[in-house]
Amino acid sequence: MSNSKWTKIEEILSGKKTGETVNLRGWIYRTRSSGNIVFTVVRDVTGTLQATVKKGNLSDKDFEDADKALIESSLEIQGVVKEDKRAPNGYELQVTGFNVVSFAEPFPITKDQSPEFLMDQRHLWIRSQKLTSILKIRSTVVGAIHKFFRQNGYYEFDAPVLQPNQCEGGSTLFEVKYYDNKTYLSQSWQLYAEAAIFALEKIYNMGPTFRAEKSKTSRHLSEFWMAEMEGAWMDLHDVTEIAKDEVRFILKEVLEHNRRELEVLGQDAKKLEHMSTAKYPTITYTEALDILKEKEKMNVEWGKDLRTLEENNLMSHFDTPVVVTNYPSEIMAFYKPKDPKDQKTALCFDMIAPEGYGEIVGGSQRSTDIEDMTKRLKDMGEKIDNYEWYFDLRKYGSVPHSGYGLGVERVVAWICGIDNIKDAIPFPRTLLRFRP
Ligand code: 4AD
Ligand code: MG
Repeated sequence: MSNSKWTKIEEILSGKKTGETVNLRGWIYRTRSSGNIVFTVVRDVTGTLQATVKKGNLSDKDFEDADKALIESSLEIQGVVKEDKRAPNGYELQVTGFNVVSFAEPFPITKDQSPEFLMDQRHLWIRSQKLTSILKIRSTVVGAIHKFFRQNGYYEFDAPVLQPNQCEGGSTLFEVKYYDNKTYLSQSWQLYAEAAIFALEKIYNMGPTFRAEKSKTSRHLSEFWMAEMEGAWMDLHDVTEIAKDEVRFILKEVLEHNRRELEVLGQDAKKLEHMSTAKYPTITYTEALDILKEKEKMNVEWGKDLRTLEENNLMSHFDTPVVVTNYPSEIMAFYKPKDPKDQKTALCFDMIAPEGYGEIVGGSQRSTDIEDMTKRLKDMGEKIDNYEWYFDLRKYGSVPHSGYGLGVERVVAWICGIDNIKDAIPFPRTLLRFRP
């Protein structure tokens, strides 16, 4: 069957097909029957439409099928498009042919079910209007990231997923048996990217990333997608500004392509419009502590990482993402260099999203001090042999370089305004879940 025979629901809702006979295919979203008439709401990827099936307008067999088909049955139907102010979307289809492609069994998902039940039924729940909308926005976000970097002269560069070394601390590594050895699932693309910038200078990537996060939060996944960049000749300031541009670009693309989905999710597009053009402030960790002290009466001891509560309280004073730089060097990963102007702090940054979405980007300038990195890795109990290749990069024409990683699901959750990161990825993997 050629595609041209089929009309999409959005074409009907745009008014272009009014009065015409069209063929539609999709699934039953809702249905109710009252004797000689069946009201079926049909959905396809582009929207939902009410189809009115009246006995006498189609064959008896087709009418009987329409009468007994349950929700999620798949269909091919034919009918005449009518404008109808009473119909949910202003249009309805007066059905003249109703072919059930596959009769559905009673659908296990009904109203008011628990989040855990919906997670068990994820393979079916993915069809919901909520998840469909999120997945469309996710697709835009992923496309925007590729577009942003490619338009700005970056090469896409791929690193191995199985890695012999850690990047972000040994406690969240997933170990994988590798023949007679062991390796780990990638915590970050970064260390390999640092090798590649000496050839390609400006690179990016987006890929699955793994962290054995031992706590249950609404922000952490065990498998997530990170979009990372690395650039030769770039310092901390350069990459914080690139990260701001990237986030604004993503927002613009979503606003251009996903107005309808934002509406389905109840997300305020005005707020996103503001953030798609606004300037985002950069402050230091120490300034963040000052804000918390003055405006929130919160005393955070200098040297402690910002927890969720502190990040959220800080962000209640901003209506855009904020870049926080110069965290205490002690609590930072081994590759983050000390700031020569303030030795207690590192040349690093986090970008924090407003409204409780937390850290969406993390990055830094990269250390060139082999001695310091060796000491820090040893203190963590690492085998230095595994990092010799990385230290080589400092021995053969090292240059200042920097990069960052953006958490795709964190950004999607924030843009969609959803309360749990698990809905920002189709099949979430967490401490307690790896099925379906
Ligand atoms: O801050 P992180 O750990 O930075 C790195 O991994 C660097 N090596 C990146 C780089 O410089 N190339 O992670 C980067 C971002 C975080 O800001 C957060 O948005 C996201 O990845 N992220 C997670 N998202 C979901 N679940 C988790 N468990 C995450 N851990 C980090
Ligand atoms: Mg981080």
